[in-house]
Amino acid sequence: MIQRVRGTRDILPPESRLWANAEAQAQRVFGGFGYDEIRLPLVEATELFVRGVGEGTDIVAKEMYTFADRKGRSLTLRPEGTAGVARAYIEDGLAQWPQPVRLAYYGPMFRYEKMQAGRYRQFAQLGIELLGAATPEADMEILLVLHTYLESLGFEDLVILLNNLGDVEDRPRFVATLKAELEPFRGELCPDCQRRWEVNPLRLLDCKVPRCRQLMERTTPVAEVVSETAREHVAAVERGLERIGIPVRRAPRLVRGLDYYLRTVFEVVSPALGEDRVICGGGRYDRLISDLGGPQVPGVGFAIGEDRLLDVVPEAFRCRVLGQPLLAVLPVGSVATLDALRLARDLVQAGHRVQTEVTGRSLKAGLKWAGKLGASLALILGETEIASGVVSVRDLRRGLQEEVALTAAVARVGELLSAVDHEGERS
Ligand code: HAM
Repeated sequence: MIQRVRGTRDILPPESRLWANAEAQAQRVFGGFGYDEIRLPLVEATELFVRGVGEGTDIVAKEMYTFADRKGRSLTLRPEGTAGVARAYIEDGLAQWPQPVRLAYYGPMFRYEKMQAGRYRQFAQLGIELLGAATPEADMEILLVLHTYLESLGFEDLVILLNNLGDVEDRPRFVATLKAELEPFRGELCPDCQRRWEVNPLRLLDCKVPRCRQLMERTTPVAEVVSETAREHVAAVERGLERIGIPVRRAPRLVRGLDYYLRTVFEVVSPALGEDRVICGGGRYDRLISDLGGPQVPGVGFAIGEDRLLDVVPEAFRCRVLGQPLLAVLPVGSVATLDALRLARDLVQAGHRVQTEVTGRSLKAGLKWAGKLGASLALILGETEIASGVVSVRDLRRGLQEEVALTAAVARVGELLSAVDHEGERS
């Protein structure tokens, strides 16, 4: 038996309908704000992520799916989307487009993560990037798009955590302060933090080991060390968000797992899952494009982890998507099957979901099958029905049955389904 690769999953129906709907809704909201899709390769030169995401990050140091192709070039399955967007901005000449450029992406990412709840080695992201705008208003728009999307799925309890990581010039000052404050306790830090101390000290703040956490809590928040301009930028973002009614909470020790962030960084957490299982991460990256050899173009964006989003998506969304009625078309006898297929086509063209019985079951077995599928209505086409140009429509929930002219079947099905809907609303 060949099994799927550890950390990957099969998303089966009906669950896959939730995914398709969450993506379609993202396309509506992101697209509505002007973020049209960029379809990027899943595989890139390894160098892109080493330089873009950062050599000292866990992603690059431990988690990339890197391999040599047949000519010996080092390639990597993308662990995230921002570096690829930045590469495309440079390579495809997006600097020539009207600025800023707004882009969205949907699809799988790959990270060789330690297996834990909510962590996959292939997972999907829904992301947007705004390139070519350095203002606080750009950050506000990004968070507005995020908030609008999450709200449209019915989320009410998600929390946006926000921090200020300052500019490149602030980084050495902050790291020096952090190290000076932690120096007396250095021996108590976990082995991972010993490594971070050397290669990526900012990540010390993100350690999950309780003792390390305790020590980090006592350090000076990065936002207190940053330049006046960086401070004013993030303060303006916070003020603006408050005025447009998007609640955010300051998280003074929030850092991110990728090196490119400057100034605004944020994450979305769910009280139901706790702060370890982040649903969305994002922030500003004003040096990424120039670090990759492109022009000096600022950027800001986010990526939602779709797997985690759907773990906590509100029940109302699940019901709306999964509760969409199903129609079973049941031909009796092989002549009826052709009429059944034609009827199925008419119903689908009218926007209904249909499954047609094509295995030659008897009517009794067909009704049982329709019941197991959870169909709301069965449309029965026997020889007598066909001879008189009608179809028997059976309401499987209430057990009522009526004959309808074939030509009127689509319209009648619509009426019957909306009657069921209204009853649902009343009860
Ligand atoms: P990230 O925080 O590394 O940021 O990933 C974004 C989201 O992807 C996470 O919040 C999480 O929900 C999801 N995610 C990450 N790793 C896994 C995993 N192993 N299994 C399941 N879900 C996961 C980025 O990737 C940045 N590119 C975001 C960004 C866009 N920043 C600016 N623009």
